[in-house]
Amino acid sequence: MEIRVEKGSAEKYPCELLILFSFEFPEPLEGPMKNVDLEWKGFISSLMNQGDFKGELFERKLFYTQGALPAKRVLLTGLGKRGEFDLEKWRGAASKAGQYVRDAGIKKFAFQIKKFDRLAEEELAESFVTGLLLGTYQYNELKTLEREKIKEIGEVILLGETTGELNSLNRGTETGRIIAEAVCMARDLVNGPSNKITPTSLAEKAQQIAKDHGMEIRILEVSQAEAVGMGAFAAVAKGSQEPGKFIILERNKNKGYDTIALIGKGITFDSGGISIKPSEGMERMKDDMSGAAAVLTMMQAASKLRIPLHLVGIIPATENLPSGKAYKPGDVLKTLSGRTVEVISTDAEGRLILSDALTYSLRYQPKAIIDLATLTGACVIALGDYVIGLFGNDESLLKRIEKSSEKTGEKVWRLPLWDEYFEYLKSDVADFRNVGARAAGAIIGGIFLSKFVEKIPWAHLDIAGPASIERDRPYIPKGGTGVGVRLVIQLLRDWGKG
Ligand code: BES
Ligand code: ZN
Ligand code: ZN
Repeated sequence: MEIRVEKGSAEKYPCELLILFSFEFPEPLEGPMKNVDLEWKGFISSLMNQGDFKGELFERKLFYTQGALPAKRVLLTGLGKRGEFDLEKWRGAASKAGQYVRDAGIKKFAFQIKKFDRLAEEELAESFVTGLLLGTYQYNELKTLEREKIKEIGEVILLGETTGELNSLNRGTETGRIIAEAVCMARDLVNGPSNKITPTSLAEKAQQIAKDHGMEIRILEVSQAEAVGMGAFAAVAKGSQEPGKFIILERNKNKGYDTIALIGKGITFDSGGISIKPSEGMERMKDDMSGAAAVLTMMQAASKLRIPLHLVGIIPATENLPSGKAYKPGDVLKTLSGRTVEVISTDAEGRLILSDALTYSLRYQPKAIIDLATLTGACVIALGDYVIGLFGNDESLLKRIEKSSEKTGEKVWRLPLWDEYFEYLKSDVADFRNVGARAAGAIIGGIFLSKFVEKIPWAHLDIAGPASIERDRPYIPKGGTGVGVRLVIQLLRDWGKG
């Protein structure tokens, strides 16, 4: 989809289709909607007065203008009650309007952005573009039948009137596009099946990103990871025929910027290993690399946005499979930190590979470590699929994440890391066990990770719930969601603002 910014106003612009938004009746029409209404001899006001278009949230109605306007068609879209409006609803409305246009088979539309209330053109444009691109995302790569029925919007024109407006629209559009493309790329990786998205393919993707954006990259083979002491990562990787990769991407090295380490769980398929999972629903476990997908794509977006930070992206990538070479319950592993771990369940593999990644990140002396992981089924039970479980050891980092969450609409909810729960992780034969009791599973997973970050400010995002969803949301189609990408990018964008 091409998105262009042009000088013009809604009531005067000739196009296939014009999108107009309004709050719910009886709010007065304003901005471009009002100008179009005047030009159209009060057509929209009379629709609203008679209740044929109410402006309810996400209500959509298409009209032919029959020559009354330069635009051939107009799509009215409701924003709901004015007092309840926010950027999250705006992203949803942009998506719903875009879906309507796409499904009607129309290839092009125009839309004029004008600031209102506290919302300036730049953020309106950014959120509009984000909502539009995310809401019209489709994963069709692997379908071969009826490809001619796949519908896509070709071109979108954002209209502004003054030079100031046009500059703001250009900036907002560019930012929105970069971020949305990162999320869509993460979704492609999550939706991709595990016979296609392997540790090797993730490493290739990382290599491509490094090349395109001048980043440093290191990829350790499992034998190399084992040789430097990553006994936990190596143990998980050795059960699979598919070679594991420990990927390190680094941008803005030695430039004096603050260092942030981003760590993503990259299990490209989680069968559970020897502690094998029930087969029902096991296909979903291709999404166990959602954290890795988010880290890869946010590294790319941070680079395109020129965020002034030294970023280190660390992705331990491997399958978790049973085999004659697989690690087993009862095994004791030596982690990179030097601590030993007794394996109780080979299905608690995420925390094992992450423990080595967390320890590895310490060598960069980061100002903050953020990990994203589809870590526990318990987090899905506790919080469902709308919310990221948020854990950490540093109040100010957690507050920053909560702020980004409010801005982006990617919901987070804090869970505690109380010491009392650590009891469950004590082992008779090693320093820790990798599994506690059944109760408080998400918390115990977090506590396990906390043992590997020393005193560095750290946040753990358990994305097991929202990483992929079964029902469409206003601007998140079902399937892989790319959750966490927008949240963390917002945090990075705001980092210098304290
Ligand atoms: N990848 C799973 C967690 C998961 C479950 C993600 C459901 C998404 C949906 C993880 O590796 C796992 O299997 N965790 C175990 C831990 C347990 C053995 C302590 C779990 O949650 O059951
Ligand atoms: Zn598992
Ligand atoms: Zn897993």
